[in-house]
Amino acid sequence: MTVVIGIPASAEDETRSPITGDVVKKLAALGARVLVQRGATDAAFATPESLGDVDWAPTSAEVIAGSDIVWTIGNLSDADAAALKPGQVLMGLLTPYAGAAHATSLAERGVTAFAMELLPRISRAQSMDILSSQGAASGYECVLIAATRTPKFFPMLTYAAGTIRPARVLVIGAGVAGLQAVATAKRLGAMVHGYDVRPETREQVESLGAKFVDTGVSAAGEGGYARELTPEELAQQAKALAKAVADSDVLITTAAVPGKKAPVIVSRAMVEAMKPGSVVVDMAAEGGGNVEGTVAGKEMLVGVPG
Ligand code: NAI
Repeated sequence: MTVVIGIPASAEDETRSPITGDVVKKLAALGARVLVQRGATDAAFATPESLGDVDWAPTSAEVIAGSDIVWTIGNLSDADAAALKPGQVLMGLLTPYAGAAHATSLAERGVTAFAMELLPRISRAQSMDILSSQGAASGYECVLIAATRTPKFFPMLTYAAGTIRPARVLVIGAGVAGLQAVATAKRLGAMVHGYDVRPETREQVESLGAKFVDTGVSAAGEGGYARELTPEELAQQAKALAKAVADSDVLITTAAVPGKKAPVIVSRAMVEAMKPGSVVVDMAAEGGGNVEGTVAGKEMLVGVPG
């Protein structure tokens, strides 16, 4: 029996594709077929020609009805999830921590679901490490977004008439995304500071040519991740970070603790103490945000009259 991999369309604002032509070829070599909803891969420029030998269906319902394994980027719509049958397999970024109801409903109906973000980060699974690939891409992108919004130049510019000092960038959270943000901001010529609660990150931040902000809070947890801070540690951290935040032209936050809401590290008052025109990119926004008041996917102006 030929296994069919189904690719329904993602949410409208999704710009990634769950499949590319290279993967279609690998699946074909394994004897599998791919069934794609028309338009599902367009936003990622994975054109029908580039996908090669796949089958097409006009609706997500037909894709789901016709496949054994369903690949998605994020969660399916409620209607599509409800159409999954016992024995069918669902794979993607299924945000299992965001609420148990979705996972419970799939389990009750006998659907086998793989939340790819829960894949152990062991050597054997590195080629499937979805968190690292997405973290690296987002850390890079955050800096580019900030660089286009800040009125400052990232590099130092020297002319006969004088010198313009480089932008000051602070990156909070120095995991995969944070270190990529530090490296990207350095490459653009900014003066970069990095901060994390895991002690080993000092050396990692410094090895990229940035300075480490020491708050005296050390919170290494299990499996190479950070643990949640106590309220006292959070207060100590906020006090020590206040000046570094106020001195920054660009603040990028990426801090996360697996399975928990993102820690709120930067208060509204700390943001209001930044210079006019400063830019904050809160990469943890979807997980609740590291900066008080941020809303995922929204660009907001703080402290502007009217
Ligand atoms: P993450 O996305 O879970 O968290 C981002 C960063 O936020 C982490 O560095 C964490 O220490 C930091 N953080 C948490 N709470 C904080 C707070 N209150 N203040 C400041 N920073 C805070 O982490 P990510 O980037 O997904 O992975 C980090 C760990 O995973 C590292 O130890 C890394 O070496 C390890 N890893 C292992 C891989 C492997 O193949 N073995 C691959 C990729 C990462």
